[in-house]
Amino acid sequence: MKKIVPITKKWSPGSWMNLPIKQSPSWPPQELDKVVKKLFSFPPLIPINEIEILKKQLKKVAKNKSFILVAGDCAETFSDFNQSLIERKLQIIFKMSLILSYGINKPIIKIARLAGQFAKPRSSLTETIGKVCLPSYMGDAVNDKEFNLKSRSFDPKRLIKAYYHSATTLNVLRSLTDKSIHDIIGKWDNKKILGKNISPLITDIARIERAMHAMSTINDYNNRYRFSKDFFTAHEALLLDYEQALTKSNFDDKWYDTSSHLVWLGYRTGQPDHAHVEFLSGIENPIGIKVGPETSFNDLNQIIKKLNPKNEFGKIILIIRYGVSSIDKCLRQLVKKMIKTNHRVLWMCDPMHGNTYKTNKGFKTRNFKDIKNELKYFFKILKVYNIPPAGVHFELTPENVTECVDESDNIHQSNVHEKYETACDPRLNNNQSLDIAFSINKITGESNG
Ligand code: PEP
Ligand code: CO
Repeated sequence: MKKIVPITKKWSPGSWMNLPIKQSPSWPPQELDKVVKKLFSFPPLIPINEIEILKKQLKKVAKNKSFILVAGDCAETFSDFNQSLIERKLQIIFKMSLILSYGINKPIIKIARLAGQFAKPRSSLTETIGKVCLPSYMGDAVNDKEFNLKSRSFDPKRLIKAYYHSATTLNVLRSLTDKSIHDIIGKWDNKKILGKNISPLITDIARIERAMHAMSTINDYNNRYRFSKDFFTAHEALLLDYEQALTKSNFDDKWYDTSSHLVWLGYRTGQPDHAHVEFLSGIENPIGIKVGPETSFNDLNQIIKKLNPKNEFGKIILIIRYGVSSIDKCLRQLVKKMIKTNHRVLWMCDPMHGNTYKTNKGFKTRNFKDIKNELKYFFKILKVYNIPPAGVHFELTPENVTECVDESDNIHQSNVHEKYETACDPRLNNNQSLDIAFSINKITGESNG
């Protein structure tokens, strides 16, 4: 009988191309080719040593010595690119991290969904309005949100634009973070927060402000934040042509995706034998894996083995996004099974993506209460199994938008449209972001008490 010799499959930055792929825009091939050639010649966006710095920091998370805050837009847009908005995005993340470190008593690793979060997976490939059916909006790196054929066509030149927007955003972030924490945050506008029903927390903010002030008087220089040491970026590694072009090797022949410090595998692209998992399996970056109600344990098990064959600490972050109605059952089951595998993984909660629904008028929203409650379950369940929670993951903006329903902020299903500005999923606004940070302190305080 003829013996079947298995083909040895060696990873390379382009080996994903031989495999089936989900959520990949059908780009015009010749134009894509030209663009990709250009992208290959571009310099890395993130220096390799910074990716290694994040890896080291994540090892501390594995030892329960630090906590991660991932936050930012669902989808960045080219039109949002301006100094003041980037500055405010940074401020809200730093404010939340200060609140969290005050309550959790650990350093907070700040990772922004910024400088690269330009591509979106979609549950439906097309969108129909009336009798017109067009490709769905897949993020500014792919097409434009406006509903007409020209805007919705997939345009590879947008990848180049995404690169330059990321580079310039990184540049702004680097200059903004080279300051003392006091200067980064500026003045807390407490009057704005008073509108929301969290005014008792104002005293906590005042305490934090006093502590910060004391810190900066004692030792100003050392309290400066340096980009790579304290602040990192992340996005979903969705557009593999783009990610591949920015994947560079160092002298040890190790490969790094220099498009961002951390990249994650989206919920819709988590098939162990498909292209996205293949691509991610060869890079050194830390990797997030979105885990939701439809993620099978067998798939997840295979994915983790493939992405972390050496079972390194801090390499894999499971980003749990079950939704408030499923987390209790699903997370308990998953934890029990994972314990038996000995996989070294970090556990993070994304209480946003499992809680999305549409209002009667067709606006995607999330209930702030559901977000809070999913977090409660997450911390409670991990505590039962003695697993340290690694962090939290939010979609938010410093703007006073009305995208997530929240009685205490006077946002109801009937008025979400009033200031609804997101390019994709509904985000927490400024007040809700501060509120959620205080809530985490309360939840973790209670679960430790
Ligand atoms: C996201 O993080 O914006 C996203 C699309 O998440 P998920 O893959 O979990 O649905
Ligand atoms: Co989203």
